[in-house]
Amino acid sequence: MIEIHNIHKTFGDKKVLDGIDGVFESGKMNMLLGASGTGKSVLLKCIVGLVKPDLGSITYDGRIFTNNKLDIRQEIRRKIGMLFQGSALFDSMNVNENVEFPLTMLTDMNRTERKKRVEFCLQRVGLENAGNLMPSELSGGMKKRVGIARAIAPHCTYLFCDEPNSGLDPLTAITIDELIKEITEEYDITTIVVTHDMNSVLEYGDNVMFLYKGKKLWEGHSSGIMDTRVKELNDFIFSNRLMRDAKKIEQIEENEQRDEDIRNGEV
Ligand SMILES: Nc1ncnc2c1ncn2[C@@H]1O[C@H](COP(=O)(O)OP(=O)(O)OP(=O)(O)O)[C@@H](O)[C@H]1O
Ligand SMILES: [Mg+2]
Repeated sequence: MIEIHNIHKTFGDKKVLDGIDGVFESGKMNMLLGASGTGKSVLLKCIVGLVKPDLGSITYDGRIFTNNKLDIRQEIRRKIGMLFQGSALFDSMNVNENVEFPLTMLTDMNRTERKKRVEFCLQRVGLENAGNLMPSELSGGMKKRVGIARAIAPHCTYLFCDEPNSGLDPLTAITIDELIKEITEEYDITTIVVTHDMNSVLEYGDNVMFLYKGKKLWEGHSSGIMDTRVKELNDFIFSNRLMRDAKKIEQIEENEQRDEDIRNGEV
C-alpha cells in the first residue's frame, strides 16, 4: 500500500500539485485520471522519487519515502517497476537485453538466473518468441508489453504505468489493460495507472482519483463515476459523444425499470 499526504509541487510560478492526499492499495488497479497538463505525470514522478515534492509525505507499506535516508529510498526504489509514457525502451538493445537491464542494475542474480527471469517475464506478457527483436521491429502494443516485462522483471512490489495504452488501437489497448490487471492481482502488486482513457477507467478502475488543476476533485470506484455531481469530472467524462450516448441509454434503462417497478406495485 502506498499513502500520499498533502503533496505540493510548483515549477517557477506554476502550481502543479496543490495538496493531494491518497491511498493506493495492493492488488488493485489504482487510477489517476485527468485532462492533459493537470499534473498526473508529475504526481506519479513525485511518488516514484523522480521529482521532489515541495511539501507532503509519501509512505510505502508504512515506510517513509520522502526525505528518508538514501539507502532506505534506494531499497524502496528497487521494488518499483515503471512503465513510462511512450515505453522508453533502449533502442540499441534487443528485447532480451531491455528486459535484462534492470536485473543487471538492481539485483545480484547471476547470468543464468537473469536469462531464466527474462524468459519467464517475456512469456508472461505473451512475447516468448520476440527476445531477439530490436525495438524498431516492434509494434506499439509489443513495445508496451516489453515495457511491462521490463517493469516486473525485478519482482516489483509497486508498478507505475504512465498512459499504458496511449497510441494503441482500442482492442490492443484493452489487452494491455487486461495484462496489467492480471499481473497486479496475480502478484498482489500496488499498481498506479495514469490515464485519460475512460474505457480503461470504466472497465478496470478499482480506485479512481480525478485530478483537476493540481487538486483531487473526486475519488471512488469506477462504478460510481458516471453518476458524479462534480461538474469538472462530468465535463471531462461527457466531453466524449460516446459517453453522452451511454449515459442517455443508462437513463432510459433506469426509467424503464422504474416504470416497471411502479406497474408491479413495488414502489
Ligand atoms: N520539469 C518541469 N518543469 C516545469 N514544468 C513542468 C515540469 N514537468 C511538468 N511541468 C508542468 O506541469 C504541468 C503538469 O504536467 P504533467 O506532465 O504532470 O501533465 P499530465 O497531466 O501528465 O498531462 P498529459 O496527459 O498530457 O501527459 C504542465 O503544465 C507541465 O508543463
Ligand atoms: Mg502525462
